[in-house]
Amino acid sequence: MQDKQAIIDRINVLKKEKNVVVLAHNYCRGDVQDIADFVGDSLGLSRQAVEQPADIIVFCGVDFMAQSAAILSPEKKVLIPDMFARCPMAAMATADEVRKAKKQHPDAMVVSYVNSSAEVKAKSDVCCTSANAVEVVNSLDCSKVLFIPDKNLGDYVARNTGKEIIFWDGYCPTHNHMLESDVASSKEAHAGAEILAHPECRREVLEKADHIFSTTGMTGHCSSSDSKEFIIATENGLLHRLRKENPDKHFYPCSEYAICPDMKTIDLESVLDCLEKEEYEVTVGEKVRTQAKKALDRMLEAGR
Ligand code: 13P
Ligand code: SF4
Repeated sequence: MQDKQAIIDRINVLKKEKNVVVLAHNYCRGDVQDIADFVGDSLGLSRQAVEQPADIIVFCGVDFMAQSAAILSPEKKVLIPDMFARCPMAAMATADEVRKAKKQHPDAMVVSYVNSSAEVKAKSDVCCTSANAVEVVNSLDCSKVLFIPDKNLGDYVARNTGKEIIFWDGYCPTHNHMLESDVASSKEAHAGAEILAHPECRREVLEKADHIFSTTGMTGHCSSSDSKEFIIATENGLLHRLRKENPDKHFYPCSEYAICPDMKTIDLESVLDCLEKEEYEVTVGEKVRTQAKKALDRMLEAGR
């Protein structure tokens, strides 16, 4: 194994030489976040993928995030350092299932959470992320929405919009695993802490939270809040960024087990390998790409 600093130095050289931008999701390993040019939530990273004037995007995250970058920026080469970094929730809806559901609910508009495949996005009217789901659904000129694939986010949207939501039976294993009892025991240990929860959590967890945010929403809130202590109900990779940006504040995971294995597969060695070999390239067939892009563009217009 190479010395860690030597790997970082080589990554930085290759980034410059090849005009690469490295995007990392807030759940990535801390040392991967530290070498990234941008760290953010799904929405922020999609925007960066479009805006950054790079030839190559190295996407440190999971499959659907890199696919979104490839859909939005076809002129850039999009690479993912580990092709097995795949969101299990995104695999809980197929294009064929969506096609059948659309037939059953012809009067509903289809909103797909970005945690979905390019093929599912292509069958959707609009996409959303956890940061803009309520805003996107409220912007639609319809009363019924087929919401794919996260039933917890769908439930949150149903309670915060006037729309009738038709739910899909998908969920994030990492967030769905957190229970009210986890919130209760962390609150018992840290009585003065504010509780922040991600809308992929179950309703019983969201009801106990002081605030509900996307991952970048949480970082913004923690930096601006006067509170000094926070219980974080999302994937624990976010704690790295929160602690780094707020060294005077204290952050506690709601559950020690809230770790997404797919978000941890990418490490510094695989990033270096990716830059050297320019693999693994993420591509989306042109027909699916143009249809999926419409749903993503509509989201970017409607939601912050
Ligand atoms: P954010 O868009 O809030 O970062 O969430 C992405 C995700 O995968 C949550 O599990
Ligand atoms: Fe998918 Fe959940 Fe992992 Fe996010 S945390 S990538 S939703 S499995």
